Amino acid sequence: MTRDINLSYSPKEIFELAGNIVSRLSDENASSFAAGLPNVNSLSLRELAPSLLPIINSIKSVGAVSESTSELVAAIKDTYEFQAWRQPYSEKDIGATFTNGSAWFPIADVNGPIVYTEGLVEIMLLNSGITYPKHSHSPEELYIVLAGQVWWEADGAADSPTWKKAGEFIHHLPHQEHAITAGDDAVLILNLWRGGSFEMPNIT
Ligand SMILES: [Fe+2]
Repeated sequence: MTRDINLSYSPKEIFELAGNIVSRLSDENASSFAAGLPNVNSLSLRELAPSLLPIINSIKSVGAVSESTSELVAAIKDTYEFQAWRQPYSEKDIGATFTNGSAWFPIADVNGPIVYTEGLVEIMLLNSGITYPKHSHSPEELYIVLAGQVWWEADGAADSPTWKKAGEFIHHLPHQEHAITAGDDAVLILNLWRGGSFEMPNIT
């Protein structure tokens, strides 16, 4: 069987579910991200071979969802074995605990199944208790917790450090240093970048 026959949610449907979550957030920065998302029908598609990593089995045990995130999480659980999961960090730079305990797959970006050159829309999976250490990057960023909860810390953010749970979002300005640690369950996060360049974050 081909990928298309198996997929209960197409890349475009997943993109639209992600966009709906962003557009429902009542926040100026989130609204601005939502307004900047392209019409998915204007973007081209690329067939990507699935790429699987051992960590992705944690999808089955992610933490609680919220009303706004449940459908996207269901779509991720239905399609995760067909996504192009990646681990962009090397063990040498960040340590094996992190590289074995985290992974991403693209929804839309320069190399994604939806070809999007102006920003990035991807899903991050963190195993329970895993810390994504303090890092920064030039693109402005929105994280929306889809399942589970994270302990979030960001330099200069008045409401940090705090827990962020499913349905809640985190906004980072360009170059703002930030870190998150997954709670007792595995965590799924919708991650958006805009502006800046497609770069590896600086771990600080
Ligand atoms: Fe980040």
